Amino acid sequence: MRVNLTVNGSPRTADDVWPGESLLFVLRERLGLPGSKNACEQGECGSCTVRLDGDLVCACLVAAGQAEGREVVTVEGLAAEGEDGAPRLTALQRAFLDAGAVQCGFCTPGLLMAADDLLTRTPDPADADIREALSGNLCRCTGYEKIIDAVRLASARTAAGAPAGSAEGE
Ligand code: FES
Ligand code: FES
Repeated sequence: MRVNLTVNGSPRTADDVWPGESLLFVLRERLGLPGSKNACEQGECGSCTVRLDGDLVCACLVAAGQAEGREVVTVEGLAAEGEDGAPRLTALQRAFLDAGAVQCGFCTPGLLMAADDLLTRTPDPADADIREALSGNLCRCTGYEKIIDAVRLASARTAAGAPAGSAEGE
């Protein structure tokens, strides 16, 4: 079957999609967007988190057909493209780098999506809000303190004038 959807603001089409195929598979294997990770494929780890019509979902649990005609935002869609074609990191992405919160490539994309969603809804979150927002995103390796520091940093910088979720120049 053919699936038409909007991904990171652009219309995309995937052909030959099997009925049981996941949105995650379509994004990674058919549309060339490997940022969303396939770690558990059971809705347990959050590595595949994307926005579907504005709501966070585990793309591994969404059938591709359910995305027909809908809007998907992946981690690749967080950074804006600068005039030179290079990505311009969001305040949150910059904060992850500066706080040393970038860990392995599996958990970080989902953590960024969840944190971005939190800061969009709650620009000045309490620590409990941050922990709750990230509770569906598992890291198997380490603590979460630097990640929480990064969300705090992004929130503080945004309050100081850097717009959350928008491009921040190098
Ligand atoms: S790969 Fe989807 S939740 Fe783990
Ligand atoms: S799962 Fe990513 S650093 Fe542990």
